[in-house]
Amino acid sequence: MTNPAFVPFELEHYQSLYERTVAYNLADSSVKCVTTREWLNEDEIERVLDTGLFYPEVNGTTLLRESIASLYPNATAANILVTVGASQANAMVCETLLSPGDEVVVMTPGYRQVWGTAQNMGCVVRDLPLRADNNWRIDLAALDTVITPRTKLVAIVNPNNPTGTILTAHEMRALVNACARVGAWLHVDEVYHGTEHAGEAPTPTFWGMYDRLICTNSLSKAYGLSGLRIGWAITTPLMADELWRRHEYAVIAAAAPSMTMAEIALVPAKRQMLLARQKMITQAGMVEMRAWLQTQAGRFSLGPTQATSIAFVRVHHDASSYHVAEHIRQTVNVLVAPGSTLGVEGHLRITVGYEAEKVRNALRLIGQAVATLPR
Ligand SMILES: Cc1ncc(COP(=O)(O)O)c(C=O)c1O
Repeated sequence: MTNPAFVPFELEHYQSLYERTVAYNLADSSVKCVTTREWLNEDEIERVLDTGLFYPEVNGTTLLRESIASLYPNATAANILVTVGASQANAMVCETLLSPGDEVVVMTPGYRQVWGTAQNMGCVVRDLPLRADNNWRIDLAALDTVITPRTKLVAIVNPNNPTGTILTAHEMRALVNACARVGAWLHVDEVYHGTEHAGEAPTPTFWGMYDRLICTNSLSKAYGLSGLRIGWAITTPLMADELWRRHEYAVIAAAAPSMTMAEIALVPAKRQMLLARQKMITQAGMVEMRAWLQTQAGRFSLGPTQATSIAFVRVHHDASSYHVAEHIRQTVNVLVAPGSTLGVEGHLRITVGYEAEKVRNALRLIGQAVATLPR
């Protein structure tokens, strides 16, 4: 390792080591993705084939930026930067806003991209806890102690990966007020918008609630199109320009064929079809998960969930979550994500966003493996 202090992205690294070789991969965080053949009609396929392979518009095609802007109240194409997945948008946020020594507050448990990137940039990172003993609601009492005048950036994921928590209007307002009190920027990763479970209202966006705000999103989770690698940031035109300056260094532009397909995905009828597909897969998978939990003699538990195709399952065993995940992988060849890679011990992140039969078979194997885990 060239820099021994480098903080690796443990979750992504663990997945990339094993996801192609295990019999069942339930460490993912989106639903089973579509194939290009499956979701495009002949005219749309022709349109993709006609896409010129010169460098595309660097900040995203005008049509795509307009389509994205139309998803938000009072936004225009000038508010949008199209990126290579939400990951690149998140990286641009860190690169634009952070300097060594800055304090950054990150929702925990959570997707650890900003958490690790900020540390690698020499920042001091503090956790903003979601409380396990309160069904993963945000700890509002912690806002005033964790967010201080030294806080440069507050980074949250809503709905949250891995807990699926959706912030209430009251919690959203409290977060914005805490940022406004100290002049901190607020970064809201909204990639799980549109993954709400049956009976949950659509997650409201933070867009429009605060002036120092950057929301990021992508087509990876709710739309099942992670292979397109298309994401975006929405912010003020001035900040969108700043992000764009860094984007030119990082990747120049997102891929042209992907942007054509993203334009098609956001046509209202197509968008509804993709969202409905994702929700149907998740709903069926969650039924499998609940049924399986009933058969596990109290070895696992899961509270009520609000969104995402992920279950953040508590494992009632003293071993570390990494040890449990490795035991499962090595004994039954099923991949799940250790809670430690998301900032909390004692849990496994298990995706249910696949065919019900696949989820059922993989869960049965996980049950077998954990039943044989020495105490
Ligand atoms: C909260 C969160 N943000 C961003 C990403 C990366 O998404 P993308 O595929 O859009 O780069 C993930 C992927 O798991 C995620 O969970």
